Amino acid sequence: MQKPKRILFTGGSGKAGRHVVPYLLDRGHRVVNVDLTPLAHPGVDNLTADITDSGQMFNVMTSYANFDELEPGNGVPRFDAVVHFAAVPRILIRPDNETFRINTVGTYNVIEAAVKLGIRKIVIASSETTYGVCFADGEVNPCVLPLEEDYDVDPMDSYGLSKVVNEKTARAFQRRSGFDIYALRIGNVIEPHEYDRFPGFFAHPEVRRRNVFCYIDARDLGQIVDRCLATDGLGFQIFNAGNDTNSVNIPSKELAARFFPGVPLTRELGEHEALYSNRKIREVLGFVEEHDWRKYVKQ
Ligand SMILES: NC(=O)c1ccc[n+]([C@@H]2O[C@H](COP(=O)([O-])OP(=O)(O)OC[C@H]3O[C@@H](n4cnc5c(N)ncnc54)[C@H](O)[C@@H]3O)[C@@H](O)[C@H]2O)c1
Repeated sequence: MQKPKRILFTGGSGKAGRHVVPYLLDRGHRVVNVDLTPLAHPGVDNLTADITDSGQMFNVMTSYANFDELEPGNGVPRFDAVVHFAAVPRILIRPDNETFRINTVGTYNVIEAAVKLGIRKIVIASSETTYGVCFADGEVNPCVLPLEEDYDVDPMDSYGLSKVVNEKTARAFQRRSGFDIYALRIGNVIEPHEYDRFPGFFAHPEVRRRNVFCYIDARDLGQIVDRCLATDGLGFQIFNAGNDTNSVNIPSKELAARFFPGVPLTRELGEHEALYSNRKIREVLGFVEEHDWRKYVKQ
């Protein structure tokens, strides 16, 4: 187990964060959640702040986590890592330009403050939508399958574009600092109670096409973030964050042929291997899936 870290986590009150933050707390880390609304969970410290305000980001990153940190009398401790999840999480919540502005300016502010304050490990939430299938106008095929991190990402929507820009922002700050900045292209997040949706996916697999059939269990996402925190020295990295297999019970080759006809496969696939490949997190970060949907869904 790695040495516990003092972590500033943005967006911890949201769908993904409310599972990832408890996972990190269980691993012994201290977590300060920076969000517009607090997360009611034992052990988490909350600060209400807006990522689109640069001053607030510099300020929260130089803050005590809670009153107990006043006691030693040594001043404010430094954060070991920043995990940045706060965002408008898809199109069609806010106007497109606001989605783009909040996500890109917010991410710029968070990374800039972290780098300028010497916080050497930064993990940001990118998205499956960068691959351009999810929020495309019409039915769009990927160029190749499985989707891997070296793909030439080309979304046509404001949210996916904001995440591509954020990856570039991360890369620029990594080049100037030499710190570790890892971007997680998170797949469709599934909370524990959402496995009751899977029988519906099996009956209508077409509803998962825009996600290229991927899912990531919210607790397994916690493990991926923890593995990022434990793995140092990789510089700028992009990682697909998905589970080992697809979110439907159709073998992968058949799934690709049926829903993405004519799209070339770049390598042999395991029988149920995810078309949204998680090979890199398994090989580079040592991710070991704990929450296969088969544990929770009767077939
Ligand atoms: N849910 C998914 O399937 C999915 C898939 C791919 C990527 N992602 C990404 O993962 C991250 C988390 O997604 P989620 O589903 O938990 O989203 P969510 O909307 O449930 O949570 C996002 C959190 O960010 C906070 N937030 C929004 N604007 C803010 C601001 N200006 N300042 C401070 N906090 C702000 C919100 O209050 C919320 O608690 C996001 O970056 C999202 O784009 C999510």
